Amino acid sequence: MEALRSTPAWRELEKLRRERQGQTLRELFEQDAHRYQRLAFGDESLWLDLSKTHLDELLLSGLLALAREAELEAWRERLFRGEAINHTEGRAALHTLLRDPDGEPLMLADTDMRAELRDVHGRMRTLVEAVRQGDFTGHAGETITDVVQIGIGGSDTGPRLAVEALAHGADGPRVHFVANLDGVELERALSGVSPGRTLVLLISKSFNTRETLINGARARDWLLAHGGKAAVQTQLFAVTARPDRAREFGLRDERIFPLWDWVGGRYSLWSAVGLSVALALGWQAYQELLAGARAMDRHFREAPLERNLPVLLALSGIWYSNFEDAQSIAVVPYTERLARLPAYLQQLEMESNGKRVDRDGRLVDYHTALPVWGQTGTPAQHAFFQALHQGTRVVPVEFIGVAEPLTTSDGLHDELMANLFAQGQALMQGRSAEEARAEMAAEGLDDAAIARLLPYRVFPGDRPSSLLLLRRLDADALGRLIALYEHKVFVQGVIWRLNSFDQWGVELGKQLADALLPALRDGLNGAGLDDSTAGLVAQYRRWRGR
Ligand code: F6P
Repeated sequence: MEALRSTPAWRELEKLRRERQGQTLRELFEQDAHRYQRLAFGDESLWLDLSKTHLDELLLSGLLALAREAELEAWRERLFRGEAINHTEGRAALHTLLRDPDGEPLMLADTDMRAELRDVHGRMRTLVEAVRQGDFTGHAGETITDVVQIGIGGSDTGPRLAVEALAHGADGPRVHFVANLDGVELERALSGVSPGRTLVLLISKSFNTRETLINGARARDWLLAHGGKAAVQTQLFAVTARPDRAREFGLRDERIFPLWDWVGGRYSLWSAVGLSVALALGWQAYQELLAGARAMDRHFREAPLERNLPVLLALSGIWYSNFEDAQSIAVVPYTERLARLPAYLQQLEMESNGKRVDRDGRLVDYHTALPVWGQTGTPAQHAFFQALHQGTRVVPVEFIGVAEPLTTSDGLHDELMANLFAQGQALMQGRSAEEARAEMAAEGLDDAAIARLLPYRVFPGDRPSSLLLLRRLDADALGRLIALYEHKVFVQGVIWRLNSFDQWGVELGKQLADALLPALRDGLNGAGLDDSTAGLVAQYRRWRGR
């Protein structure tokens, strides 16, 4: 296959890049009075404004040609049909099936996966409704008020995002998330709950993840200490693709919900991994979450690429990553309810596409996943926006806003949204020397002060941002939003010729940690470590009195 950077579409984009050198966003707006109309897309629930990026129709058609050259439409079909596109692990990536249980039978190894999924949904629903109605109780007959969900990575980030986004004011049990091996997180979770009223959910596809097994064992012992065997048998649940390991851990079959190998960890919210979400929000809202994602799947599969939201968002990222040399991307949601979104996207984008070897096993000679970082606005404005506006690096920003407030008064929400819109505006237009001078004169500064302060008060502008505007943030909209990002990542992976569904890069650190543990406990004993690691182990042992 022709090298990506030698393909006609890539070369054409490089040519466009050279021709556009120095063309600013302000100029683009001056040249086209209808820029927003041309570059804002969406429907009554989700709106994507790309007009404050450097894309225009010509650039977009160049990027769409790149997507077509990558055979995006064919890859998209392979994804939805359940082909084993995760070729290094020999698996399909069928998260789209998880949110579409009622479609045509989908056979994998002679089994209709949709029928299996409907069975699991039946079991989940029974539990969720029984807990929420008070029919399912703890071992001593007490109503369940809390859920401690233990899992990490994809077995944590999706449910945590959904619960934090949607559980405000919900009437189900409170959910406490525990991911970290640092014991503080589990201690905090357990200290605030009553053992007779708490379900413990162990979420691990492999049931082999150190963090989850260690925290899980401590939570199991906590149940045991407070309620004996009956508490463990009643209140301990697992979601896993390895029921054999869960059984060995002490779980009863009725307490184990299955997962399948074709569900990738970071795409698993839509499976029984979402049990805590259903418990917190109720079955109806959980179904709406799936329905929102399903609607986005349909859009992604059917809408022409020119108006396809995940495709457009992906192409904008490709432009800045591969042709404008962006070093990272900032995600800034203007709602506390999406505070977890940057962390969620870090795993989704960087574990999926943070790779340097293509599908054919060759080293790539172009950049792949942009590092993702961010936090909520407006606090972010008082943290890193200085650098976004006046720093030496240009960081494209993905803003997310919600039009309808949940609880705050309209006046407050208007103020929040004004800040959101103003930031994109400021990044785009900046403030010229002339404008800065005029402003300082209006403030009454004398000429000497104006000359001294001028360089500091100029904003270069021409800094790109996109804005995803949700009409409201309900379960349906969150489903759409997450699925939008999943497909964005898929599109970028196809263009970069990657397998977006494996994660070999997380293995080495885990193996080395296992190997280092004896040295921390028993001493170096000629462990053959590099000088730095040996020094750190020795320092640690000294401080721990060993
Ligand atoms: O970080 C690696 C990883 O395998 C993720 O992909 C996954 O989401 C996480 O660990 C947790 O894995 P498991 O669900 O098997 O415990």
